[in-house]
Amino acid sequence: MLIYKTTSLGKNDSLILIGLKNSDFSAYLKTDDEIKYLKKQVKNDKKHIVINQLNRFVYINIVDSKILKDKDKLHETLRRDASKYKTGFNDNNITEIKILEIDGEASWLLAFAEGLALANYQFLKYFKDKEEKENKLGLIAIYSNKINKKEVEDLNYLIQGVYLSRSLVNEPLSYLTAVKLSEEISEMGKEAGFTVEVFHKKKIESLKMGGLLAVNKGSVDPPTFNILEYKPKNAVNKKPYVLVGKGIVFDTGGLSLKPTADSMDYMKSDMAGAAAVAGTFYSIAKAELPVHVIGLIPSTDNRPDGNAYAPGDVITMFDGTTVEVLNTDAEGRMILADALSWAKKYHPELVIDLATLTGAAWVAIGTEGMVGMGNAKRKVMDSLQKSGYATHERIAEFPFWEEYAGQLKSDIADLKNIGGKLAGAITAGKFLEHFTDYPYIHLDIAGPSYSKTKETYKPKGGSGVGVRLLFNFFQNLSK
Ligand code: BES
Ligand code: ZN
Ligand code: ZN
Repeated sequence: MLIYKTTSLGKNDSLILIGLKNSDFSAYLKTDDEIKYLKKQVKNDKKHIVINQLNRFVYINIVDSKILKDKDKLHETLRRDASKYKTGFNDNNITEIKILEIDGEASWLLAFAEGLALANYQFLKYFKDKEEKENKLGLIAIYSNKINKKEVEDLNYLIQGVYLSRSLVNEPLSYLTAVKLSEEISEMGKEAGFTVEVFHKKKIESLKMGGLLAVNKGSVDPPTFNILEYKPKNAVNKKPYVLVGKGIVFDTGGLSLKPTADSMDYMKSDMAGAAAVAGTFYSIAKAELPVHVIGLIPSTDNRPDGNAYAPGDVITMFDGTTVEVLNTDAEGRMILADALSWAKKYHPELVIDLATLTGAAWVAIGTEGMVGMGNAKRKVMDSLQKSGYATHERIAEFPFWEEYAGQLKSDIADLKNIGGKLAGAITAGKFLEHFTDYPYIHLDIAGPSYSKTKETYKPKGGSGVGVRLLFNFFQNLSK
């Protein structure tokens, strides 16, 4: 998929016109019959109207003027509207579409193009007949003098980052081991212009990253620890922003095995946090946003085996903290803790982690958003929240009161790796906070990271959640 800005409109080019109920679309219609037809459709409150002009199709998308004041809602509506055209494009063999607005704003076009591109994503790698299955649309052109080329290019890079992130999540363990994940991220770095340093097992052992090594004990595949860095000369920040992503390439639960039916089937997606970090790096490096960002991705699968870590084990973590493991399925926090301790050496401005960390976060708010918590300044959380609403990757903020940490007291070690029955998403966050000494925000994306059904512009499978949120956040910082 390529989104680009165009200044040419050929008479055979298929179009999407975005406007209001009372907009005048007649410049793009050919006959009185077409005008009459459109009028009738609009009068009947139709929002998506197709006109077949034989040499091309003209699609008309009507925006409800009631939502014009609420920008975030308007943009989300446009993204969702856009996702409705996919079947029509396939049926009518449309490979390129040009988008125009009538009585609208530049941002309408960007939101619409974004929805169109996101809905057009497919993961076809494993099909024999991929070509036949492939969506017809490959080019989205934005025709407008209200938008500059850079804005359109940035949207294009953002979409590419989301696509890559989704594909990483959709890859099964049979392909995507921890080492493979590192290779994929390194490729992304080469292409986009960020550096990737990969620590392999020996190095991880010599560093004594006890959390990551403990989770990896039951695996036949070695772990990796990945350090991504994007440092442009014109960075607006002195201290780096650090993004940490949970990279569990498959979570069986380990010896505290998950029941298969519904809780293990989709656990190839337990590296969605890692995918979000990698996708974000791809997009910001491609768009050359002026921010210095470091990414940390600890990665392994979590499996039961003769040598797997066991409930009751006491693990010495990278920072020297001892942890009593009472559930090997609470593995995300074990590997993330080592990454968060490692992050201290950068004296970061802010650390944000993204992790498919708890079923509790999912149960609490479902798939409509992510759970967020932290100790960063109000202003910082507010600005992240604002990006959440702008991108519809919303954050439900949970309390982060110190009392919750009380649940993590162990009888024989500094911490135990699970809390009690209550507030599971928060005690997980509190466990992680123990390993930080900087402003910190924890995002639990267990709910929105993977979808079992198709939802508007999100196909089944990996959603790429986090990339659009963070890109928007860093874009705002750059302004
Ligand atoms: N990867 C899971 C969390 C998860 C659940 C992600 C559902 C996506 C969908 C995580 O490693 C896990 O198993 N967490 C446990 C923690 C518990 C043992 C304290 C959980 O939430 O049950
Ligand atoms: Zn688990
Ligand atoms: Zn997990």
